[in-house]
Amino acid sequence: VMSIVGAQPFMKPMQQAASTSPGIQRRHTLPASEVRPLNTQDAISVFEIEREAFISVSGECPLHLDEVRHFLTLCPELSMGWIEEGRLVAFIIGSLWDKDRLTTEALTLHKPRGSTVHIHILAVHRTFRQQGKGPILLWRYLQYLRCLPTVRRAVLMCEDFLVPFYRKSGFKSLGRCAITVANLTFTEMCYPISGHAFMRRNSEAIRFPELPLTLPLTDTKESLDV
Ligand SMILES: CC(C)(COP(=O)(O)OP(=O)(O)OC[C@H]1O[C@@H](n2cnc3c(N)ncnc32)[C@H](O)[C@@H]1OP(=O)(O)O)[C@@H](O)C(=O)NCCC(=O)NCCS
Repeated sequence: VMSIVGAQPFMKPMQQAASTSPGIQRRHTLPASEVRPLNTQDAISVFEIEREAFISVSGECPLHLDEVRHFLTLCPELSMGWIEEGRLVAFIIGSLWDKDRLTTEALTLHKPRGSTVHIHILAVHRTFRQQGKGPILLWRYLQYLRCLPTVRRAVLMCEDFLVPFYRKSGFKSLGRCAITVANLTFTEMCYPISGHAFMRRNSEAIRFPELPLTLPLTDTKESLDV
């Protein structure tokens, strides 16, 4: 079972960012940008982005609203949302899987003892695309997974046109995915997660403030100056 200890390094920087920014606290404004795990209250915002990104295009989407709620209830620590001024602009939803390759069951199940993170969706709100946010959020998520001691790899299935996109983020193709959805076929892709990152984290070789995506992301100076 995913330990709460594992989830801590992800949440900690945000709490620190909030508590060490007196200007932001004083003005009671929403942080300009933050990255945090999603919860069931985010399900509608997630689904709105899915509706535009997938349903309007193909009539299908990776997760229906009840499935979004299902995973955000069972394994919220495997989700990540990018919020700008209180609005969800990009997100990832993952769950655990316990086999080498994805099968249809992986679309709906969370296997708490699995060592594979199945990334169900990465999506960016339409008006925030082509700004590098998708790759940044994915990178941040993969860094976070390295701090979860039982996670050995991340896998996803994508349509062939997105293979170069995921390759650039370090994923390797495993070939054709066994799953098909409404005549669509997919490539299965895998990202190995080093088994030693947890040890390095404990020895403080990984420091979250060094990540390029430190929080709050933008407008800090403006918020403090006004
Ligand atoms: C795919 C997606 C997550 C990319 O996020 P983004 O923030 O828009 O990414 P960027 O615009 O910074 O693109 C990064 C790279 O991916 C490529 N890329 C982005 N969308 C692409 C698409 N639809 N087809 C092919 N390549 C694409 C870009 O060309 C870019 O490459 P470059 O750096 O060489 O120019 C986003 O477009 C999206 O949410 N799409 C709809 C949902 C989706 O298809 N999700 C993935 C399947 S779960």
